[in-house]
Amino acid sequence: MFGGVISLAMFAALPVQASAGLRDLASTKNLRFGCAVEVRPLMLEAEYQSAVASECGALTPANALKFDAVHPESNIYDFSGGDSILNFARQHGQELRGHTLVWHQALPRWVSRSVKTRDQAVAVLRDHIMNVAGHYRGEVYAWDVVNEAVNDEGTGLRSSLWRNTIGPEYIALAFQWAHEADSNAKLCYNDYGAEGMNQKSDAIYALVKDLKDKNIPIHCVGLQMHLSQEEALDYPAIAQNMQRLAALGVEVHVTELDVRIQKPFTDQKRHLQAEIYSRVLSLCLQQPSCTTFNLWGITDKYSWVSRTFKKWGEALILDRNFVPKPAYYSLQTGLQ
Ligand code: XIL
Repeated sequence: MFGGVISLAMFAALPVQASAGLRDLASTKNLRFGCAVEVRPLMLEAEYQSAVASECGALTPANALKFDAVHPESNIYDFSGGDSILNFARQHGQELRGHTLVWHQALPRWVSRSVKTRDQAVAVLRDHIMNVAGHYRGEVYAWDVVNEAVNDEGTGLRSSLWRNTIGPEYIALAFQWAHEADSNAKLCYNDYGAEGMNQKSDAIYALVKDLKDKNIPIHCVGLQMHLSQEEALDYPAIAQNMQRLAALGVEVHVTELDVRIQKPFTDQKRHLQAEIYSRVLSLCLQQPSCTTFNLWGITDKYSWVSRTFKKWGEALILDRNFVPKPAYYSLQTGLQ
């Protein structure tokens, strides 16, 4: 008896195996399983490299393709981070997701300094999209073209440099330019807090419907899914939202799933977290429109959560030492 307990505990502490990772299990279900990655550990850290290689079938640069990283000065484009991730993906048979072309955040100072008129804004944004999406033409399966444009209340578009200079049509223009730059990529609208049925998801539904009615090239909606272990999720409402989006003729991508836990971190909370991961996965598996299931990272060591939400952490499926957590096994079971 006692010996059995010890060997079980040892088994649980084994690092991730290189064979039959989540990416392989997912592909047997026709599901793209991916994760967001940071450039530095992907270049430098063997444990991170092997976890990403074995578990993730698609990579989203967490920050490397944001405006300030890729276009830090008006006449400078820096593709070094994105290209490193693309090379890693090629070497490991992984797909690449572009994230993100148009966002109210991560704008370098030169943009607000030099963009004063509508014409200037149109010129800068068009140049940016043509160059960045053009650089990765044919290499990405999808772009998060416009990120987080709808306000939290769902009453309209949030105030942003692009909205305030160009007007609401900056969204349609961005999708048209992205399509011009890379006609093979699926073009997505991506947002948070709009997973189930609420005012914000209603506004996003209306936005996507309007774009489709106008024949603007939009092919997918990204549901970020930054969830917390404590909030009660309305799973039927998420299914309903996925279905109404599918009825518009767009795919649904889970783009940034993580499930944060509040301190003190306990095994009980980790098990509740695992249940949320597996229920969201099974929702996606049940919806034909849900083709892509991406986590916002792979290990708690490099998660944005503890840096962003005080008192919260441990949101991902491998712990800081790359040891699989209950959430890892719940996804593994869900994919078998
Ligand atoms: C986050 C990154 O993970 C952080 O490293 C960065 O400091 C801020 O942005 N929604 C998004 C992502 O679309 O781009 C954000 O990523 C997380 C929320």
